[in-house]
Amino acid sequence: MKLLHLDSSVLGANSVSRRLSAEIVARQKTLHPSLEVTYRDLSADPALHLSGGHMAALQGSATDDATLTADLVKGNAYMAELLATDILVIGAPMYNLTIPTPLKAWIDRIVVAGKTFGYTASGPEGLLKGKRAFIASARGNVYVAGSPAAALEHQESYLIGLLGFLGVTDLTVVRAEGVAFGPDARDAAVNAALGQIAGLTA
Ligand SMILES: Cc1cc2nc3c(=O)[nH]c(=O)nc-3n(C[C@H](O)[C@H](O)[C@H](O)COP(=O)(O)O)c2cc1C
Repeated sequence: MKLLHLDSSVLGANSVSRRLSAEIVARQKTLHPSLEVTYRDLSADPALHLSGGHMAALQGSATDDATLTADLVKGNAYMAELLATDILVIGAPMYNLTIPTPLKAWIDRIVVAGKTFGYTASGPEGLLKGKRAFIASARGNVYVAGSPAAALEHQESYLIGLLGFLGVTDLTVVRAEGVAFGPDARDAAVNAALGQIAGLTA
């Protein structure tokens, strides 16, 4: 069984989402001792923004740009790791109301027609069947339904929508929010999320 673990926070050891994603992975290792984990720190080693050069190369144009070539190799590795995995764990902070740009750069390489989604006579169909996903979400404010900022939530909802589009519907969100409201609020939010992770039975 394989697990792909992604982190995207820029806050290093102070990151909430990194702590939660690591705990999710540790819990999954306990539940599935033979788990094979692939880790990508998308903040430390991001892919380039998708460019015209990428699109041309993906459509078969030759390139002698070594930086672009290396980045295309990285994108191919992203895709291979995703297709091979059974479990996907995404460390996903909210930055400026949405996900960090390196995580978006990863998404831009794995949303590919014919590989992760396709079109049928009745519309698009996700091709990533049978995978389980966890989103380790951290955010400074509170965005749950009914809160004043709920309409500004474009982080979890984006990831859930995107993964659903690709066919990943077995999805668990572990969330620590309101972490900017002070140390007590942060500790309470993190501890509640850690409790949720400890209670995972699959
Ligand atoms: C660059 C940056 C942008 C942020 N933007 C938002 C935001 O739009 N809304 C919010 O609620 N919190 C925002 N925050 C607070 C983070 O969501 C919060 O610190 C969270 O813990 C980030 O996850 P991390 O600790 O894993 O990096 C921002 C933090 C940073 C560093």
